[in-house]
Amino acid sequence: MKTIFSGIQPSGVITLGNYIGAMKQFVELQHDYNCYFCIVDQHAITVPQDRLQLRKNIRSLAALYLAVGIDPNKSTLFIQSEVPAHAQAGWILQCIAYIGELERMTQFKDKSAGKEAVSAGLLTYPPLMAADILLYSTDIVPVGEDQKQHIELTRDLAERFNKRYGEIFTIPEARIPKIGARIMSLTDPTKKMSKSDPNPKSFITLLDDAKTIEKKIKSAVTDSDGIIKYDKENKPGISNLLAIYSILSNQSIEQLEQQYAGKGYGEFKADLAEVVISTLTPIQEKYYELIESEKLDDILDEGAEKANKVASKMLKKMENAIGLGRKRRR
Ligand code: AQP
Repeated sequence: MKTIFSGIQPSGVITLGNYIGAMKQFVELQHDYNCYFCIVDQHAITVPQDRLQLRKNIRSLAALYLAVGIDPNKSTLFIQSEVPAHAQAGWILQCIAYIGELERMTQFKDKSAGKEAVSAGLLTYPPLMAADILLYSTDIVPVGEDQKQHIELTRDLAERFNKRYGEIFTIPEARIPKIGARIMSLTDPTKKMSKSDPNPKSFITLLDDAKTIEKKIKSAVTDSDGIIKYDKENKPGISNLLAIYSILSNQSIEQLEQQYAGKGYGEFKADLAEVVISTLTPIQEKYYELIESEKLDDILDEGAEKANKVASKMLKKMENAIGLGRKRRR
């Protein structure tokens, strides 16, 4: 069985973008792959986080993984900071990476733009992400389009390491969905929907209630020509809403264009809100059953134990290959 690894940062409540671009695929893939799904809390602290809010977001993300359908009997679900090999292997891979290639990462450029003080971690987070992936001999990494560049860097680092120190790492491949790989902001459809966007109207979270969802979709930025047609260049707002509608309703964009020919944006948006609400209602019900439960802690404990076993073995291999530490006495 091939191995899948993917992580999500607890840097806010998961958005429809995270769900459509990443989580939804995880649920489908877990039946055919050996899967590791991670709450990458060490990535989240590359930008300032409130301590209590971070704790809350970590638990909330764990419950959401399960609520969308991750089965702990099939997949290993764990928190990154509970598996120390990630940070240790991340350090080694930082020493393999070049500053120039890290500075070229578009996410680093976007998140550091205009900021007076930027953490060193924001620059060096891609090698930590590479460690997350490589520790599990991952074959496939299901992600949204924004992470493509980081997976390419992971491949480069793995190849560089293998060339210098011997064939240790499996070279992973990104798996990016055909539709929905980049869900856009509702307030600025030329920008990616992000859970840490300061404007909550720009995203829908998996925990938004029905009224909030209706309001956010109603106020989503569109255009003035009144035609429901997919045209990313000229009609980014409507195209984004059509993509969300299509994925959540399992109808093609063409079918939706036909269905809404001659109809107004108001009717289209009201129907889309209903589709989003009916997708999220069962997820939210499961979420509220799990969030305070001991079952959630048991699953995370078990996940950390399983992940620790695999990750510490790979870390040892890396250290031996490089010559870190001492040769073990028998
Ligand atoms: N807008 C999006 N459309 C499709 N996929 C998306 N992903 C993120 N935004 C979209 C995918 O979700 C997964 C988890 O992402 P992450 O939490 O690791 O970090 P991110 O990519 O930086 O996501 P956010 O929401 O934008 O977080 P913040 O605001 O903290 O930076 C990844 O597979 C990602 O591709």
